[in-house]
Amino acid sequence: MPSDRDYVLGTHDEELARLGLQHRVWRPVVLDCWQRAGITVGKRVLDVGAGPGYAAVDLAEIVGPTGEVVALERPGAAGWFPLLAIPPC
Ligand SMILES: C[S@@+](CC[C@H](N)C(=O)[O-])C[C@H]1O[C@@H](n2cnc3c(N)ncnc32)[C@H](O)[C@@H]1O
Repeated sequence: MPSDRDYVLGTHDEELARLGLQHRVWRPVVLDCWQRAGITVGKRVLDVGAGPGYAAVDLAEIVGPTGEVVALERPGAAGWFPLLAIPPC
């Protein structure tokens, strides 16, 4: 039974696919916004509500090995982060 700690749209395969489609559709616009916001090589970025990690992976590619992306999720989102291959803390 879902609890109020669960992501309202779920963390199942269909939601992962939906977020992936959303990511692909909006990616060019989002990349432009991040560039105009000054997110570049070496920056430290906080991704609040990282979900499966689509944005976090893009951000990690932008900031590179000299930068840092901290991906934050709710404790109730266990099983999320499949793209990041790290457990939520
Ligand atoms: C639309 S999804 C995010 C998709 C993600 N940014 C990506 O790139 O794929 C929204 C996420 O926000 C998370 N969330 C909601 N409330 C939160 C909170 N208070 N703190 C951290 N994460 C939260 C949800 O669990 C969900 O994974």
